[in-house]
Amino acid sequence: MKKILICMGSSCFARENRENLRVIEEFLKSHGISDSVHIEGSLCMGQCHQGPNITINGNEYHEVNSEELSGILRKELIEI
Ligand code: FES
Repeated sequence: MKKILICMGSSCFARENRENLRVIEEFLKSHGISDSVHIEGSLCMGQCHQGPNITINGNEYHEVNSEELSGILRKELIEI
């Protein structure tokens, strides 16, 4: 099962992961893959200075903004 780990620590959450979580949920729903991707919130990953941080299928992404997130999700979840 594919897995998304999104940092919900206060720094990442305040920066953009609140919006990023919404983008992820929308993306999964619109592609009909909500059941095959597990989303998990994490506590602070200890890399706040590089945040917002999201790990998808073991690949770490830093300074993720909501505009580029769809492209990352497409690459990680669709084009495999
Ligand atoms: S809050 Fe996300 S790495 Fe610290």
